[in-house]
Amino acid sequence: MLLSITPKPSLVVVELLNYNLKKSFMTATDPDMLEKCAQIVANARRIVCFTGAGMSAESGIGTFRGGSGLWSGALGFVVLGWFGTPIGWKWTPGFAWSQYIDRFYNAIRDAQPNEGHRALARLQKIYPDMSIVTQNVDGLHQRAGSNPDRVFEVHGTVQRSRCVTNGHIYDFEGETNLPRKSPKCRVEGCNSTLRPDCVLFTESLPEDQWTGAELAALELGPGDAMIIVGTSAQVYPAAGLPQLATRRGATLIDVNLERTNFSILKNYEYLGGTAATSLPALVERVEQLKRNAYVEPVEDLQHPS
Ligand code: OAD
Repeated sequence: MLLSITPKPSLVVVELLNYNLKKSFMTATDPDMLEKCAQIVANARRIVCFTGAGMSAESGIGTFRGGSGLWSGALGFVVLGWFGTPIGWKWTPGFAWSQYIDRFYNAIRDAQPNEGHRALARLQKIYPDMSIVTQNVDGLHQRAGSNPDRVFEVHGTVQRSRCVTNGHIYDFEGETNLPRKSPKCRVEGCNSTLRPDCVLFTESLPEDQWTGAELAALELGPGDAMIIVGTSAQVYPAAGLPQLATRRGATLIDVNLERTNFSILKNYEYLGGTAATSLPALVERVEQLKRNAYVEPVEDLQHPS
């Protein structure tokens, strides 16, 4: 039986008081830290990746917080309250849809996976059981070649829409040009407007995706690793997964421009850098270490003592 430790959890933001931790802005990776993290990953039995908006920033999709983030500043706060919750979708569905297409969906439509997405897909070749838990709704991990069965989209996806009134699902996968005018539900007698099948604040997370994500974190143990990429650690319940991982004894490796709140957890390593630079460097070194580890016993066999 699948157990969820937080049944039907809803989306909430927790701006932790300690978020004014000393921020060090780091766009390049320290070689010693890279080596340390590569050794941790190469020696792990299991790996889980946990990704957020920073993962896709170099694919041209804006982040939610910081600088020019979608939710930043006074206007961002209003936009968050209106379109980030079910309120705007209920009262101004046509406007909410057109704003969604202009400000969010079109950037995803035009985006391509970056080197970071591709590096994680390569890492999954070494660790076929590796789960990628993503808060992103852009589908770029799957498009980069990651196994769709091991990608858990805990905040939903823009590939699907559903009608506001009755939740009828529309799969738009492959249909890249969604209309700017809000489409209507085609189920007889419904005629409701559509919204993306993404989780809005106060709503529950998709149960199957969340259960898969929690199980992945729960399966980690001492010596295992969770690679965290481009998330500000503020939106729960997803931001609780690294805590779960460290409680199981796993090491956290954080790829982010700045240290996040996760740095107060035990077994935390700050790799820094950007998703599209640090992840390829990390995975390349892990591949080398794995190759070397494989070659030695073969040589021993050829020259038995
Ligand atoms: P945020 O926008 O809150 O945080 C993005 C993080 O990415 C920040 O910590 C940045 O420092 C970091 N970052 C930016 N560029 C980066 C890069 N190139 N490489 C690595 N890191 C980089 O995004 P999330 O934490 O994902 O919810 O936000 C969580 C949720 O809040 C989202 O899933 C969304 C939002 O409301 C829903 O859509 C349901």
